[in-house]
Amino acid sequence: MSTRVLAIANQKGGVGKTTTVINLAACLGAAGQSVLVIDIDPQANATSGLGLPRQQGTSLYQVLLRERSIQGLVQETVAPGVQIIPSELDLAGAEIDVARMDGYLQGLSMAMLPIVRNGGYDFILIDCPPSLGVLTMNALTAAHGLLLPIQCEYYALEGLSVITHVVEQLRTTRANPEIEIQGIVMTMFDARTRLSQDVASEVRSHFGDRVYQTMIPRNVRLSEAPSFGKPVIMYDPYCTGSEAYRQLAKEVIARNRRPLGDAQ
Ligand SMILES: Nc1ncnc2c1ncn2[C@@H]1O[C@H](COP(=O)(O)OP(=O)(O)OP(=O)(O)O)[C@@H](O)[C@H]1O
Ligand SMILES: [Mg+2]
Repeated sequence: MSTRVLAIANQKGGVGKTTTVINLAACLGAAGQSVLVIDIDPQANATSGLGLPRQQGTSLYQVLLRERSIQGLVQETVAPGVQIIPSELDLAGAEIDVARMDGYLQGLSMAMLPIVRNGGYDFILIDCPPSLGVLTMNALTAAHGLLLPIQCEYYALEGLSVITHVVEQLRTTRANPEIEIQGIVMTMFDARTRLSQDVASEVRSHFGDRVYQTMIPRNVRLSEAPSFGKPVIMYDPYCTGSEAYRQLAKEVIARNRRPLGDAQ
């Protein structure tokens, strides 16, 4: 399988992007996949959630400014099979500094080229900040697909047309002719509430089979694990959150695998 680059994005804050990046990466790694996480959110929550400190000079900031290459930025995480290019606060400056450069949307995809061409990873997951600013746009330009987490709450569908329109624009303007909405993940699902059920069925009727079958339940273990710098499967392997992300990883692998019989 060639490397699949997925941007985990939704301009809405707190919908479970980072939780999905950390735990999907760890479960893909546990399933024998080779994974690189790229944290481009200056909040650096994926970085700390995978057990790394925030350290100046470790992020993609200088790479996006074309002051250094991506070589040497990849670090090991606590999760087997998962490596990371961390983030730190400096990256916040990129929103302004990178926007001044020519071809600034292509910065990340250019920087990633040697890594993607090398084919050493099965998956690259990019954790985006909660905006459609320069950093998220760079991620969407670099990605094969958008993985869109949607929180099961009242205003879940509000604003979604904005990001789906951006994906459409990137494709039609040929800034990224390949990009597609690779999948939608329902997060913080609470089977006991009517609201969660309603939101889930509304999203399914809107997006059809692009919505993953697996829904991530609201589970306190998922919110505790990051403060221990661990993905949930290393913190409480049998909780409902662990089970759900393992299941999601299986679906993600199946959906991204080449069709049977396709020549290598
Ligand atoms: N399934 C879940 N069950 C319980 N808590 C969750 C779940 N998913 C996420 N959370 C918690 O909700 C909060 C927001 O989640 P997360 O940080 O993953 O969202 P985000 O979309 O990355 O946020 P931001 O937009 O700020 O980057 C966090 O405190 C996280 O621990
Ligand atoms: Mg986040």
